Amino acid sequence: MKIGNNMDINTLQSLFYQRFNNQGTIYTSPGRVNLIGEHTDYNGGFVFPGAIDKGIYACIRLNDLDRVRAYSIDYDQYTEFSLREEDKPAEHWACYIFGVCREIQKRGYTVHGFDTVFCGDVPLGAGMSSSAALESTFAFALNDLLHLNIDKFELARIGQSTEHNYCGVKCGIMDQFASLFGKAGNLMRLNCATMEYEYFPFNPKGYKVVLLDTVVKHELASSAYNKRRESCENACRHIAARHPEVKFLSDADMAMLNEVKAEISEEDYLRAEYVIGEKQRVLDVCDALQRGDYKTVGDRMYGTHYGMSKLYEVSCAELDFLNDVAKECGVTGSRVMGGGFGGCTINLVKEELYDNFIATAKTKFSAKFGHEPKIYDVVISNGARKIDVS
Ligand code: GLA
Repeated sequence: MKIGNNMDINTLQSLFYQRFNNQGTIYTSPGRVNLIGEHTDYNGGFVFPGAIDKGIYACIRLNDLDRVRAYSIDYDQYTEFSLREEDKPAEHWACYIFGVCREIQKRGYTVHGFDTVFCGDVPLGAGMSSSAALESTFAFALNDLLHLNIDKFELARIGQSTEHNYCGVKCGIMDQFASLFGKAGNLMRLNCATMEYEYFPFNPKGYKVVLLDTVVKHELASSAYNKRRESCENACRHIAARHPEVKFLSDADMAMLNEVKAEISEEDYLRAEYVIGEKQRVLDVCDALQRGDYKTVGDRMYGTHYGMSKLYEVSCAELDFLNDVAKECGVTGSRVMGGGFGGCTINLVKEELYDNFIATAKTKFSAKFGHEPKIYDVVISNGARKIDVS
């Protein structure tokens, strides 16, 4: 079985064997796309993600050392660490693994040392949640190997707290949820206030879903992300002071926001305006999908792009450019996907327009930015699992 560019399961197993002189078990957890519902998760709103056919693959075996010994194939780096708080490793990729172990421990479980060799084919910094894939792989694997019986929601929270406490990103729950709960051929609508979710079969006949990766990742993306979250929480606090029923910003409407307009900064107002608008767009898209009304789905995607670019201000020149090219080529829907500040656009495009869209985007983008965007066709796939190699 092939896993990524130059890797397959057998090679992963034999690299583990060479290093640790033993056989391990293989686990995987995927990255995600999100059709619509961006920056809504930490505002108690709806998201609409699906897991993809790209993920992290780890060969793991418990050891008796009380230490984690980890080798990243992609970075060609090896590190070891104990499971004590003060032993946070220096390698950023290892912090995710360390964080997952610590977060499991904090919940009262005993984590043993283990050996691991891992790799992945989720493009880094492209907004497809490679870090959630990494966290979910190890959370899922340790839960299984140590028979901890932690439910999948809590595994997702373990990944989320890893981001908060060990990686500096105050993210919501969407990425870890999608990576753990993904189901082939289905998107999932999650209400992030109640954690209720529903699978929606997603097979838009006559359309393709394709990601165009700008291959840019702007610096300080995580502090800008955290700043957006603060703006939303501030707006929400002001609204809740008048409307105690408002627990999350997504509970508010524009009338409530306008009541506090004079009390908050213009920036916070714009951020909140985007979030309130995004809630309805997700609901519209879910309804439209059930009717097979792809025109409405696409219109809302463009609406989200506008909001993320002009109100939430998490787009960039490269993403706006790809969005414009999509419009010119008659693409049904297009928008920046994920946190923003670089990464991909997600595009819903009629099959007959696909080839022209891709060719035009490549030519125009490279004329302007000096390199082509990367193209990824979206295949909605299963979530975290153990891989049976027998
Ligand atoms: C990142 C975060 C998610 C979510 C998205 C934006 O992917 O990890 O929690 O907030 O950005 O929708």
